[in-house]
Amino acid sequence: MRTQVGIVGAGPAGLLLSHLLHLRGIDSVVLEARSREYVEQRVRAGVLEQGTVDVLNESGVGERMRAEGLPHHGIELRYGGAGHRIPFERLVPGRAITVYGQQEVVKDLIARRLADGGKILFDVPDVAPHSLQADPYLTFGGERLDCDVIAGCDGFHGVCRPSIPDGVLSIFQRDYPFAWLGILARVPPSAEELIYSRSDRGFALHSMRSPEISRFYLQVPPDASLDDWPDERIWAELRARLETVPGFALTEGPIISRDLSAMRSFVAEPMRYGRLYLAGDAAHIVPPTGAKGLNLAVADVRVLTEALAHLYATGSTDLLDAYSATCLKRVWRAQHFSWWMTTLLHTFDTDDAYGRRLQTSHLDYVTSSEAAATTLAENYVGLPLDSGAPRD
Ligand code: APR
Ligand code: PHB
Repeated sequence: MRTQVGIVGAGPAGLLLSHLLHLRGIDSVVLEARSREYVEQRVRAGVLEQGTVDVLNESGVGERMRAEGLPHHGIELRYGGAGHRIPFERLVPGRAITVYGQQEVVKDLIARRLADGGKILFDVPDVAPHSLQADPYLTFGGERLDCDVIAGCDGFHGVCRPSIPDGVLSIFQRDYPFAWLGILARVPPSAEELIYSRSDRGFALHSMRSPEISRFYLQVPPDASLDDWPDERIWAELRARLETVPGFALTEGPIISRDLSAMRSFVAEPMRYGRLYLAGDAAHIVPPTGAKGLNLAVADVRVLTEALAHLYATGSTDLLDAYSATCLKRVWRAQHFSWWMTTLLHTFDTDDAYGRRLQTSHLDYVTSSEAAATTLAENYVGLPLDSGAPRD
């Protein structure tokens, strides 16, 4: 088998790349280790930046997102017995976020690729990249896919990044001493907007998926097990961490799914080796506090699409050569923002009274200074997609 771009992974990065390339007349094949049902049901984050929404709309896959997604024009920071709204409409006029589950984006992209005759192979065993410096190819289940370039969109635990020889990549990493327990509950949201709550018991987040489905997260110990968290304990802890302002009551309902995620910051540089290009979680991870993971993946594949379109139109590798540096500017901005939101809102066992005072002081600053609140808002809704990107 032969294609122009061999894509490993049918997460948001691989699927959107395949779709955007198709719109530019470039052929690709997506190889996915898991089943279609699995990738469509996997519950992940759900905040789309303005730039992500724009890419999905402009590329013709935004119809259901426009109908079912929830535009939000602010978030609340809750701490010290009070809620403080960060008003996007005033601080970053014209920019907002849309709450729409990542797996809904994945469903929309798969449906569109298949309708367009795109090739996505699911349940593909033993994918391995080869000959990355010239004439690259992928092997899987006894078959071979030759391609001009390989896009490693196979997430943090994929095979593409580990196929790069030792010593090539510089790795930058930080692990956090806690995890997030996430739940979906069949219950209307208890507030109209997201609530990021810092409490002495640990961080909690109120989010949602629809007018009928709420999404919540709790900071838990890094070695927590779902068995430690029966429904009553989850609700009691959410109440203790979120019902901290007068008049706010959490509406409870049946829990329909639960998951645990490690909190990690990670960057591999450069995001390229020979003809292998890494995109999304394969190259970088952020803790979910800034809601940046999916949005970074979208930004990467947009840059990669432009670079590949430029290659096929002109024969020039200029934009491909700039791919890693172009992406890493945004990646590092998001790394800082995600680390900053995480340290601002979580409790750390190592924190002494001084550390807690500093955290409160910083929250006071962010919620009282127009400049500091604008910094948060600008990063949260996302910097423009082409900031820093070279043009063709
Ligand atoms: N062979 C084929 N496919 C693989 C392999 C492999 N060896 N290893 C992993 N995959 C697949 C996974 O099953 C998954 O479907 O690659 C896909 C990677 O998708 P994601 O993990 O969703 O990563 P990405 O597309 O980069 O999206 C980033 O995902 O976790 C969130 O926070 C993250 O929202 C961000 C988004
Ligand atoms: C979510 O709704 O899943 C969500 C929202 C905001 C975050 C992380 C996750 O920061």
